[in-house]
Amino acid sequence: MSKVVTNQIKKSISELVGRTPLLEIVNYEKENQLDAEIIGKLEYLNPANSVKDRIAKAMLEEAENRGVLKKGTTILETTSGNTGIGLAAMAASKGYKLRVYMQDGVSEERTKVIKAYGAEVIPFSNVPELVQTLEETDGDFVAVINVFKKSVAEKEENVVFLNQLENEANPQIHFETTGPEIWEDTAGQVDILVAAVGTGGTISGTGAYLKSKNPNVLVVGVEPGMASIATLENPDITEITGVHRFSDIGDERVPANVNSNVIDEIIEVETSEAYNAARAVAKSDGILVGISSGAAIWAATQLAKRPENRGKRIVTILPDTGLRYLSTDLF
Ligand SMILES: Cc1ncc(COP(=O)(O)O)c(C=O)c1O
Repeated sequence: MSKVVTNQIKKSISELVGRTPLLEIVNYEKENQLDAEIIGKLEYLNPANSVKDRIAKAMLEEAENRGVLKKGTTILETTSGNTGIGLAAMAASKGYKLRVYMQDGVSEERTKVIKAYGAEVIPFSNVPELVQTLEETDGDFVAVINVFKKSVAEKEENVVFLNQLENEANPQIHFETTGPEIWEDTAGQVDILVAAVGTGGTISGTGAYLKSKNPNVLVVGVEPGMASIATLENPDITEITGVHRFSDIGDERVPANVNSNVIDEIIEVETSEAYNAARAVAKSDGILVGISSGAAIWAATQLAKRPENRGKRIVTILPDTGLRYLSTDLF
């Protein structure tokens, strides 16, 4: 019997990236007596369960197109987890080797998942120059990347360092996919975009697209409050994984992929507030999301409470799944 050809049977997980659904968290809105809509974009429904699958696919394809990624090349990336996981899944499906450098102390699920996909995980503590830079600069990631280039990437042959902090394919894929998906799925009726900021790729690309369609869309970035940033004096503070502070830290410390022109407002969220919101939506609407999603929902809640936002539609990016935090005290 000849088989019917259908494009509904995919041949690679890269075909499953994106087109994530929007969900209005109606029960949460009621419980909090909100008069604005909070709509989550469920990025945990990507094939490797986070928003970073989008940039993993995009950065690999861009490197292939540039001719710097071929069979036998080892891919290098520095990440707090989700980019490593997305890349590990894509690299497995495309047959590439991947080595992920991860800061010590991120949740153990992340390391396990990356290894399960067959990639190698190197803790920052194995590279003394990285730890030294983190200590000397009190957590300046841009400085760490520069040291990584010199002390690791440039010393090896046959490797490609994707560098999500500076790689233009990162914001670009959000401009090409995340933004248009939100625009289409809301029929162009979106008033506010809320996104937590790490590399800045999500907010810069998605925000720029939405503003290109309607300059009045308000783009709100979420960053950790001062009490939620680990320092040399207070190393045990629980941080919002994947999210960094980018205001008041000096321009040289802001990643190249943060486009400040796109961001209209910044809301600071403490880790405890992010936890509370993530716990609340799990119980109210049955969505299990990570800490940065909680932070974004908490920020969206503050916006929804403002009288001027009555009746408005707030689309909130929910970057990853709560399952990635079961070893932490989130749940
Ligand atoms: C869990 C999580 N939330 C939010 C972000 C921020 O996304 P972006 O890097 O696009 O700013 C990241 C990035 O690493 C992340 O891992």
